[in-house]
Amino acid sequence: MTSKTVAQLLSQAETPQDVTIKGWVRTFRANRFIALNDGSTINNIQCVVDFENFDEALLKRITTGAAIHVTGELVESQGKGQSVEIVVKTLEILGDSDPETYPIQPKKHSFEFLRENAHLRTRTNTFSAVMRLRSSLSFAIHKYFNENGFNYMHTPIVTGSDAEGAGEMFKVSNLDAKNPPLNEDGSINYKEDFFGKETNLTVSGQLEAETYAMSLGKVYTFGPTFRAENSNTSRHLAEFWMIEPEVAFMDLAGNMDLAEDFMKSVLSDILKNNKEDLEFLEKRLLDEEKTKPQAERSAMSLIEKIKFVVDNNFKRVSYTEAIDILRNSKPNKKKKFNYIINEWGADLQSEHERYLVEKHFKCPVILFDYPADIKAFYMRLNEPDDQGRETVRAMDILFPGIGEMVGGSQREERLDVLKEKMKALDIDEKELWWYLDLRKYGTAVHSGFGLGFERLVMFATGMGNIRDVIPYPRTPQNAEF
Ligand code: 4AD
Ligand code: MG
Repeated sequence: MTSKTVAQLLSQAETPQDVTIKGWVRTFRANRFIALNDGSTINNIQCVVDFENFDEALLKRITTGAAIHVTGELVESQGKGQSVEIVVKTLEILGDSDPETYPIQPKKHSFEFLRENAHLRTRTNTFSAVMRLRSSLSFAIHKYFNENGFNYMHTPIVTGSDAEGAGEMFKVSNLDAKNPPLNEDGSINYKEDFFGKETNLTVSGQLEAETYAMSLGKVYTFGPTFRAENSNTSRHLAEFWMIEPEVAFMDLAGNMDLAEDFMKSVLSDILKNNKEDLEFLEKRLLDEEKTKPQAERSAMSLIEKIKFVVDNNFKRVSYTEAIDILRNSKPNKKKKFNYIINEWGADLQSEHERYLVEKHFKCPVILFDYPADIKAFYMRLNEPDDQGRETVRAMDILFPGIGEMVGGSQREERLDVLKEKMKALDIDEKELWWYLDLRKYGTAVHSGFGLGFERLVMFATGMGNIRDVIPYPRTPQNAEF
């Protein structure tokens, strides 16, 4: 008799049969009913103990959180709430759990409390569902790219370049911080550092991904990226996972098509494969929203929101159109925005992005052709418009409830234009010689984007704080576990 998972027992429900199962006790009720969970499904299996036949001392050790091994007979359930249950023949305690100190009691815990107990929080329904979904989404992402001819590329985590030119990087060094070797002018001599130069944790694998796109054609990365921005928001992490496809001979329109098709595909996969977890999370979200004023509740349920994205086209809107909409919007005219939009060229804040997707368009929006001045150096410069304004072939995809989910662009493939841009922004050509080489030898139109994985998981699970969709969040002043 081999051990089966709870998911297998609940789905194949052939009764009666002898079974053996291991898991953790969620609850033990009336000295008779154990709700057992092994992480394979949101559902528990009920194990019925005939307490007269078991030692009192053993029964006392069946406490919430204890690991147990049960053998018995799987039978059709007498009670309501489950189709099958196990009539226990033998029960072994594998690991005790002291009810006086075990933090995860069978009651509602706040997410703040569970974050402090992140090593145990996946023993709750909410977090086990979220993390199973996170795993399924990862798989769906690899599957999508694999089926569409992309090569999975591992870009370096330690790099010598600042891909975004934003300077929000964590330094990597093994110099003695108290007593570093100095140059004559008193600055730190990084030639003596481990790599012989200044290095940092990567903010994006894009620049390296571009090199492989320009030989392998279609590539993607999916790995950890790091930002030392001091943003303590529900949407920012210092360490997050990013998916970055990069494709040769693809322009911005193709990039939008790819991003939209990709997101629809992975979301439709989880609708198929994670039904029970999604139903649980949908109910959780409904309960949470009941505590909010009517106006803040969403019109659609979680699964409806996901289906809506899968079934409807994203709205494509140029930055210039968006600025017009925002300038004429009620909150702008009534000065309700923190940042009032006066003129073309203004950077969009999350309040503006949210207005566009949540109030105006009410669907995912792809904003494109941003002012050159507010975007990264590598983006493809457009011809100036009729008013002489310069834009780049950038795109951001904004999602209701999330804000920016994707940032991407067509890349500047013209050597002279790229060099000029780098000069204007004081980016050292010598540092990026290899990036410039791509424009010297067989340059071509190419594009790509970066999708923040945790933001996608937030959307798919309805969780409101990014700290609750990654196992061990790294945020300012926090690197526990
Ligand atoms: O817009 P970003 O900065 O774009 C890039 O890094 C490009 N190099 C990507 C590319 O074209 N290959 O970041 C991309 C996405 C954002 O849209 C957002 O979803 C996510 O990464 N992101 C973050 N997620 C969590 N915490 C943070 N601090 C994030 N910063 C960006
Ligand atoms: Mg961005």
